[in-house]
Amino acid sequence: MRVLAIANLMWLAIVVWLTSRLLRERAQRKQRNYFGNWPIRAVMPEAVDPLFAPGPFGPRCDTEVAFVGRGPYAVDGGTSDGEAWILAALAKNAHLLFEFGTCTGKTAYLWARNAPPDARVVTVTLAPNDRAEYKVDSDDDTRDVSYALRESNYTQFLYSGTEAESRIEQIFGDSKALDVSPWAGRCDVVFVDGSHAYSYVVSDSAKALQLVRPGGLVLWHDYNGPLHSPGVYRALNELGTRLPLVRISGTALAAYRRPIVDSEAAPLERLA
Ligand SMILES: C[S@@+](CC[C@H](N)C(=O)[O-])C[C@H]1O[C@@H](n2cnc3c(N)ncnc32)[C@H](O)[C@@H]1O
Repeated sequence: MRVLAIANLMWLAIVVWLTSRLLRERAQRKQRNYFGNWPIRAVMPEAVDPLFAPGPFGPRCDTEVAFVGRGPYAVDGGTSDGEAWILAALAKNAHLLFEFGTCTGKTAYLWARNAPPDARVVTVTLAPNDRAEYKVDSDDDTRDVSYALRESNYTQFLYSGTEAESRIEQIFGDSKALDVSPWAGRCDVVFVDGSHAYSYVVSDSAKALQLVRPGGLVLWHDYNGPLHSPGVYRALNELGTRLPLVRISGTALAAYRRPIVDSEAAPLERLA
C-alpha cells in the first residue's frame, strides 16, 4: 500500500514537471508568459522603420547589408541573425549611432560597415580591468549582474584592425558613470545592450533618451520575458507605461521612435 502511494506521488511529480516544462517551452516559443502576453506589444519591423516594408518577395533589396552571420556558433552576448540584419539595415540611413555594451564588437562593426561614409559609431563597454567600477544595486537580480561581469571580457573586437575601426569611437568604462552630454540629442540610433541588471537598464535607458535626436530610434536587446533577462523585462515594462514602446516580432528587440516634436504628454526631460 505504502509502495503504491509513493509510486503515485512519483508519477504526479513527473507529470507536474513535464507539464511545466512544456508550458515554459510553449511560452518561450510564442514570446508570451505562461498565462497572458508580455506587456509590450509586438509589431512587424516596418512599424518601427518604413525601410523594412516588404515587397512581393519579402524584405526588399533596400534592406541589403554587408553582414557577418552567426549561424550555429555561440557568440557572447550576441544578437540573432535576424536582429543583426535589422540593426545593420538601420545604419544605412544613420550618421551617429550609439551603443551601450560592445561585447565582441559585432554590432559596432556592422553599423560602421553599413552606415554612410561620414557616419560615426560610439560604443561603451566595461573592460575586464574595470570590473571593480561596476555599481551593483540591491534591487538587481544576481544572475543579471554575474552575466554582465562575465561578458566584460573584451579589449579587442571584431572590428579591430579592419577599415571600419577608424569610424568607431570605443569608450571603456561603467555606463552609469558615463556623461553622454557630448552626443545628446544627436544620435539617429541608440542601442541599449549593456548590463541587463534592472538598475543599469533604467540608467542606460534614461541616457539613451537623452542621446536620441527627435525622429531617431532607441532599441533595446533582450526583451525576452521574465525568465530570460528579468531586469530588462521589468525596466522596459515600466518604461512602456510612459512611452509607446513596441517589440519587434520574432526578435528580442524593443523599440521607441522619438517623435519629431515631443508632445506635452511625455516631455523627454521628465523621462530621462
Ligand atoms: C550583451 S553584451 C553586448 C552585445 C553587443 N551589443 C552586440 O550586439 O554584440 C553586454 C555588454 O555590456 C557590457 N557591460 C556590462 N556591464 C557594463 C557596464 N556597467 N558598463 C558598460 N558596459 C557594460 C559587457 O561588458 C558586455 O560587453
